[in-house]
Amino acid sequence: MEKIVAANLKMNMTLEETNKYINEIGNINNKNLIIFPSSLYLPFFVNKGFSCGSQNAYSENKGAFTGEISPMQLKSLGVEYVILGHSERRQILNETNEIINKKVNIALINDLNVILCIGETKEQYEQHNTNNVLKEQITKCLKNISFENTKKIIIAYEPIWSIGTGVIPTNEIIHTTTDYIKEVFKSLYNGLEIRVLYGGSVNDENIESINTIDNLSGVLVGGASMNANKLNKIKEVVLH
Ligand code: PGA
Repeated sequence: MEKIVAANLKMNMTLEETNKYINEIGNINNKNLIIFPSSLYLPFFVNKGFSCGSQNAYSENKGAFTGEISPMQLKSLGVEYVILGHSERRQILNETNEIINKKVNIALINDLNVILCIGETKEQYEQHNTNNVLKEQITKCLKNISFENTKKIIIAYEPIWSIGTGVIPTNEIIHTTTDYIKEVFKSLYNGLEIRVLYGGSVNDENIESINTIDNLSGVLVGGASMNANKLNKIKEVVLH
């Protein structure tokens, strides 16, 4: 199974810092490393030896939607992936499963690969409600996706209580939850397999352990990916 390292740089870095970062990353020839820079800098990251993705896309291709970025525009720039349903967009920007579903559909129609983020809050985790929450997110966010387009979807399991906190579920919990996500997807799509990444406080020190979880297709890295050396180390471990 080919693995993936997705690097979500979030709303970070000035132009100067971005140029420095690109230099530090160097000449990477591996399309299974996907970098998601701030949208402003996407043109600097496309058509390189690695893949390039957008941290978001709107649910329409064009029109009077001030400040938004369309999947068609992303595709025309050479962007290959888009993250949808990230918990920061769900929580801070009030994106619902229904809004995310519209975005997923139009991104896929524009031939973008989608990394759909799902995950439970700390409260939901403590109330043993994780599976219900994940099932609802998967079912609602992936409504009306054609069988053909499911190949372009990757699910990232990101427990919200683990994002940016340094607290990570045990490997056993990640394994069991990943199996559950795969089962839910299979039941929706007649036995089809889905690739699942883990995200939440992944760094250059814990990556060797996380990489031993055998049903994962890789990781989604936030904070640690802003440091080119740390990202290179993670890439070495996961992609060899
Ligand atoms: P983190 O972020 O690695 O900083 O926890 C992960 C994410 O938000 O995708």
